Amino acid sequence: MQGTPAHVAPARIPREVVSYSRRDGRLDPRRQKAWDAHHAAYLIEPSRGLRNTSIDPSWQLDLAAAFGWMPGQRRPLVVEVGSGTGDVLLDAARRHPDVAYLGVEVYLPGIATTLIRAARENLTNVRLLSAEAGAVLATALPAGGVADLWVFFPDPWPKLRHHKRRLVTGPFLDAAARVLQPGGVLRLATDWPDYAVQMESVARDHPSFEGGVGERGHRPQTRFERKGLAAGRAVTDLVFHRREEPAWPS
Ligand SMILES: C[S@@+](CC[C@H](N)C(=O)[O-])C[C@H]1O[C@@H](n2cnc3c(N)ncnc32)[C@H](O)[C@@H]1O
Repeated sequence: MQGTPAHVAPARIPREVVSYSRRDGRLDPRRQKAWDAHHAAYLIEPSRGLRNTSIDPSWQLDLAAAFGWMPGQRRPLVVEVGSGTGDVLLDAARRHPDVAYLGVEVYLPGIATTLIRAARENLTNVRLLSAEAGAVLATALPAGGVADLWVFFPDPWPKLRHHKRRLVTGPFLDAAARVLQPGGVLRLATDWPDYAVQMESVARDHPSFEGGVGERGHRPQTRFERKGLAAGRAVTDLVFHRREEPAWPS
């Protein structure tokens, strides 16, 4: 577990295209105090790679240790990518105490706010991992270990020249397919119409997924959803299931 969010990135790491623009962010005194008080209970600290958001590809998340399960105890695992300030994650954790919820988020003030809210309610079934989600799905989580995977309102990168930074791509879905159990659910939502089209198309074309536009389910409104609605944008929810066997083109 880490004692401070003040990661210092080593110098001269080659630039890479990432799906986020902010990561460390400064913590105000209130968030810093919450971080100091609660990170040990809620934050999973992986072995890092070169960057403060990367993880060592050989590092595996030990779910039982992370969630404090008794020997032989297992819980369904739900993972939210880009959990922000925890609007969805905490609401679900409150409603389903027998399910384990993991938020993966690179923005430290968002994580700190989630910590404050989780600790206030003494939620015991929530953990947070500050790392790049694609890497978490590709190597750190057990294959087939996730019941539900949620990506709500990922950064839209609306300018054409920035579309390459969008999170939901074929390689991201390859990693999602690796961790989802057969029949597991991938939920996506966005308030950007062209991103909704892109997400639907890339997931429909993926051999491991079937589904399309779906119901929002019990998802509460998130901070970024409210911003989109206030700006007059409509929200699209997409629901895909992990196929038992990949459907390769004939
Ligand atoms: C637009 S915000 C949405 C947050 C929240 N889901 C909501 O609806 O309020 C997108 C979030 O995803 C996080 N994010 C973007 N790319 C990420 C990545 N590759 N790994 C982990 N988090 C990421 C950002 O830091 C940001 O907090």
